[in-house]
Amino acid sequence: MQTRPPQLTVCVLGGTGFVGTELVIRLARDGHWIRVPTRTLDDNDPLRVLDTVRLIRTDVHEPRALARLFGGVDVVVNLIGILNERGRATFKSVHVDLAAKVVAAARAAGVKRLLHMSSLGADAKAAPSKYLRSKGEAEARVRASAPALSWTIFRPSVIFGDGDSLTNRFARLLRLSGGFLPLARARARFAPVCVEDVAEAFRRAATSKATIGETYELCGPQVMTLEEVVRITAEVAGLRCAIVRLPDFVALAQALVMNFLPGKPFSVDNYRSLTVDSVCREDGCARLGIKPQPMLAVLPTYLGEHSTRVHLDSR
Ligand SMILES: NC(=O)c1ccc[n+]([C@@H]2O[C@H](COP(=O)([O-])OP(=O)(O)OC[C@H]3O[C@@H](n4cnc5c(N)ncnc54)[C@H](OP(=O)(O)O)[C@@H]3O)[C@@H](O)[C@H]2O)c1
Repeated sequence: MQTRPPQLTVCVLGGTGFVGTELVIRLARDGHWIRVPTRTLDDNDPLRVLDTVRLIRTDVHEPRALARLFGGVDVVVNLIGILNERGRATFKSVHVDLAAKVVAAARAAGVKRLLHMSSLGADAKAAPSKYLRSKGEAEARVRASAPALSWTIFRPSVIFGDGDSLTNRFARLLRLSGGFLPLARARARFAPVCVEDVAEAFRRAATSKATIGETYELCGPQVMTLEEVVRITAEVAGLRCAIVRLPDFVALAQALVMNFLPGKPFSVDNYRSLTVDSVCREDGCARLGIKPQPMLAVLPTYLGEHSTRVHLDSR
C-alpha cells in the first residue's frame, strides 16, 4: 500500500503565476492546505475551484502581512520574480529584499522549510545582468538562513508550457509579422524545461528531507539555441518563420529602444541575461528522479493546430 505524505500547510508566494499555478494544483492534489497571496484577486483564477487553496489579497512586501501569512505554515515556497523593473518593483525589492523579508518572517513564525526559486546563471558578482545578480543575492539570503530554516534552491533554464511567455510570445510575434522575426542573441543556448517538471521538482522537495540544503539546476533534455526554439515553435504552431539574426550592436540598439516601450517587451537587462548560456552543469532533474519532457512532446498539446490543452478539470 502506498503511504501518503503528511498533509502540510504550504504558503506559495507567486502561486498565481505560470509556475505557481502548476505547483499549487499538484500540492492540492496531494491533499495539502495551500495559502496563495496575490496583489489582485481575480474571479477567473483557476485556483479558485480548488477546495484546499485559499487566495489571499495581500502585500507580501509588508512584513506584518508576511507574519500573518506564515502563522501555522509548514513550508514556504517563494516563486516571486520579475523579468523587468517597473516603478517600485525593482530587482532589489522583488528578489533580494523580499527574500530577506521571507526568511525573517518564516523564522519568526517558526516555519522550518523554505523552497526558493532562483535561475540558472544567478551570480551576485559575476552575472552580466541585474536580473541574474539579484537572483544570486537572493540565493545568498536564503543560504544564510540555515540552520533555522531548511532551504532548497531551484535554478531552472527557460521554462516552457501552456501559458508560458516564451513559445506563446514567439508564436504571437510570428503571427503578427507574417513570419518575419529579427532575433537578438539567436545563438544563445538554453535547455528549455517543461513547467510540469519544474513544479514536480518543488512538489517532491516539499516532503523530502534529502533535498534540504541542496541546489538543483533544472534543465530539459535538449540544449537548443534561441533560434531553434523559435523554429520549433513555428513548426508546431504551423507558422511561417524567417529569422534574421541581429548582430549584437543592432540587438543592443533594439533593446535600448524597447526599454521605453510600454511593457518593456525586450530590455537592455534582458539582452545582458542572454549573453550567458542557460544550460545546466549538473542534472538536478535526475537527482530528484524526474525525467524531463522534450519540447517536441509538449508543444503540440498547447500550440499545435489540434492542441489538446490540458484544463484544470481534466487533471
Ligand atoms: N518562466 C521562466 O522561464 C523562468 C525561468 C527561470 C526562472 N524563473 C523564475 O521562476 C519564478 C516564477 O516565474 P513565472 O514565470 O511563474 O512568473 P509569473 O508567471 O510572472 O508569476 C509571477 C508571480 O509573482 C507575483 N508577483 C510578480 N511581481 C510581483 C511583485 N512586484 N510583488 C509581489 N508579487 C509579485 C505574481 O503574483 P500576483 O500577480 O498574483 O500578485 C505572480 O504570482 C520567478 O522567480 C522567475 O524569476 C522563471
